[in-house]
Amino acid sequence: MNYLLLYSTQDGQTKKIITHIAENIRRAGIGCDLRDLATVKHMNLAPYHKVMVGASIRYGHFNSALYKFVTSHQKQLNQMPTAFFSVNLTARKPEKSTPETNAYLRKFLTKSPWKPDLCDVFAGALLYPRYRWFDRIMIQFIMRMTGGETDTTKEVEYTDWAKVDHFSEMFLQLA
Ligand SMILES: Cc1cc2nc3c(=O)[nH]c(=O)nc-3n(C[C@H](O)[C@H](O)[C@H](O)COP(=O)(O)O)c2cc1C
Repeated sequence: MNYLLLYSTQDGQTKKIITHIAENIRRAGIGCDLRDLATVKHMNLAPYHKVMVGASIRYGHFNSALYKFVTSHQKQLNQMPTAFFSVNLTARKPEKSTPETNAYLRKFLTKSPWKPDLCDVFAGALLYPRYRWFDRIMIQFIMRMTGGETDTTKEVEYTDWAKVDHFSEMFLQLA
């Protein structure tokens, strides 16, 4: 039994989340390969029993590598058990943290030719000191508008790890 876990990340939070999921899967005695979507072009998914994809949001969008992968692998993806999760800061608000209420996930599911069996959305991390000047100012502006942290000396991780563990369990149980 072998699973494939793919991620698209800018600052590393999605990689951190999917690495945690990979550890949960391996602890359950199942092998899994972890790959960065930025380095994947064409892959034969047939050797894998399940596939999971995780991707973060930047200025309202997923990385184009996600759409390229989904479009070129849609046939195989739709024929096997699959899961998808999104990472963003909007999901730090409980009322925007489910597949039904998170606008990025909803939009993805509407556009995507791949229909995952399992979906979730996780709050990411706010890492002001690591951002470039322009990004720091933009994120601070967005945080001010939405009632979030505005102290640019701070790093805040909003990820709910119990929710990530529950998602891992649901993925393991996926038939
Ligand atoms: C430049 C920049 C733009 C962002 N744009 C959005 C956004 O439009 N909506 C949102 O909810 N979160 C946004 N975020 C928050 C990221 O999705 C969050 O920090 C996440 O943890 C990033 O995951 P990654 O490290 O895997 O890329 C943005 C973050 C940065 C640095």
